Amino acid sequence: MEVLSVASEAYPLIKTGGLADVVGALPAALAPHGVSMRVLLPGYPKVLAALEGGREVYWFEDFFGGEARLVAGRAGGLDVIAINAPHLYDRPGNPYVGADGKDWPDNAQRFAALSFAAYEISLGIIDGYLPDILHCHDWQAGLVPAYVRFNPGSTAKTIVTVHNIAFQGVFGWDVFNALKLDYEASRTGSIEYFGNIGFLKAGLYLADEVTTVSPTYAHEIRTAAYGMGLEGLLQGRSDTVSGILNGIDANEWNPATDPVLPQQFGASTIFNRATNKAELEQRFGLEPGPGPIFSVVSRLTWQKGLDMLPGLIDGLVEHGGRLIVLGSGDAAIENGFAGAALRHPGKIGVHIGYDEGLSHLIQGGADAILIPSRFEPCGLTQLYGLRYGCVPVVSRVGGLADTVIDANEAAIEAGVATGVVFSPATEEALGEAIRRTIVLYARPKVWHKMQRRGMKSDVSWELSAEKYADLYGKVLGHIRDDDSDD
Ligand code: ADP
Ligand code: GLC
Repeated sequence: MEVLSVASEAYPLIKTGGLADVVGALPAALAPHGVSMRVLLPGYPKVLAALEGGREVYWFEDFFGGEARLVAGRAGGLDVIAINAPHLYDRPGNPYVGADGKDWPDNAQRFAALSFAAYEISLGIIDGYLPDILHCHDWQAGLVPAYVRFNPGSTAKTIVTVHNIAFQGVFGWDVFNALKLDYEASRTGSIEYFGNIGFLKAGLYLADEVTTVSPTYAHEIRTAAYGMGLEGLLQGRSDTVSGILNGIDANEWNPATDPVLPQQFGASTIFNRATNKAELEQRFGLEPGPGPIFSVVSRLTWQKGLDMLPGLIDGLVEHGGRLIVLGSGDAAIENGFAGAALRHPGKIGVHIGYDEGLSHLIQGGADAILIPSRFEPCGLTQLYGLRYGCVPVVSRVGGLADTVIDANEAAIEAGVATGVVFSPATEEALGEAIRRTIVLYARPKVWHKMQRRGMKSDVSWELSAEKYADLYGKVLGHIRDDDSDD
């Protein structure tokens, strides 16, 4: 089975969030199921640099305003096809925004181009390669099913996976002519979204199957509270919407072999974490202390609920906790943490920025990781926390609800607790969860049992890879329904 995964990020080549981790991990996870997966990516400078020595497999003379080459090769353990189109992707920094923090003004063209290339590949333009399925991730690949449906010649099946429904790729109709999409697409209502063009909407409406990254989120996005305008469409397609939980790359994230950790450890050698904790204290300028070190490794945004945390830090410190923060995002949240660090020297350490290695050290040394998200499609940092004995403290939403078992007395008694789960995602409930965590930490037997139990949780790709493989089988076996509205 040949599947082309279409995405704007893939670890280790280019990453701004969990999407990259998932796209980067899927090919290896699916290989044992007879799925051969290549990844189609925009040719950002980092991607092309990693693909050095790749083969040019196709040339477009006029590709969304300039020429483009498809370059295929092996990079970062992945079979990659990159779109080398300097006029679209040869820009410094972030894939989505310029140095001013604003979206690149031609994002519609940049990501329509990604989707269009996938469609072209499904026509057989690359010698010896014809994918059966185009697996499209998030809005950047949302137009793929539209090209397949309205432009001629493709027989590929399409699956759209929603990693975050908050990002929808909505653009004015003025871009339509630049999209190389058959005129018919504009007449049927399938790409139209509240008077604009919706890339994600198009994908969700037209794909053979829709998945999202946890069962709870698959349910949530069909409700008004979480669907962000797309709930009606998804309700109407309920028989083709499912949730498949993300796993983690168990080689990349393995505390027994992680080269970043000063001291590796396993569930039976959990006491070895002390060395890593000491290293963390030193790196973040924290004074040693008897209480737990809480941590944050995250985008600092409203979604992640981290605007609620700065106001709770005085109480956290008063109760004997310490906190380290690794992240970047909204200036107000960054400033909130920086201010707290000034007020509590030796208790709060803040690193504004992105640092993959440091994120491993935090998971391997901190006592708990705080994830108070208002919504969370899946979330990966709680999974890394579980694997590394860094107890997750999470709100009960999306994938967080599906992966962490709250340490209430019954769960402690039964030996199944793996973290602290709170609801609703409010400052008050988060404050209470932090207090509860500090109390649990003061019961070492309970705490260590919880850590060990977490380390034994199944956070691998095994089950989920099987579910994707089954879904691929399903779309290849079934005949596409002909929509009656066009
Ligand atoms: P999202 O994709 O919504 O940001 P996830 O939890 O799915 O949330 O994935 C976030 C990924 O990005 C994880 O791999 C996490 O470790 C990583 N990450 C987030 N912020 C940072 C940071 N400042 N430095 C290093 N890694 C980070
Ligand atoms: C998105 C979501 C996150 C999820 C990740 C990978 O970025 O915000 O919850 O884990 O995608 O699927």
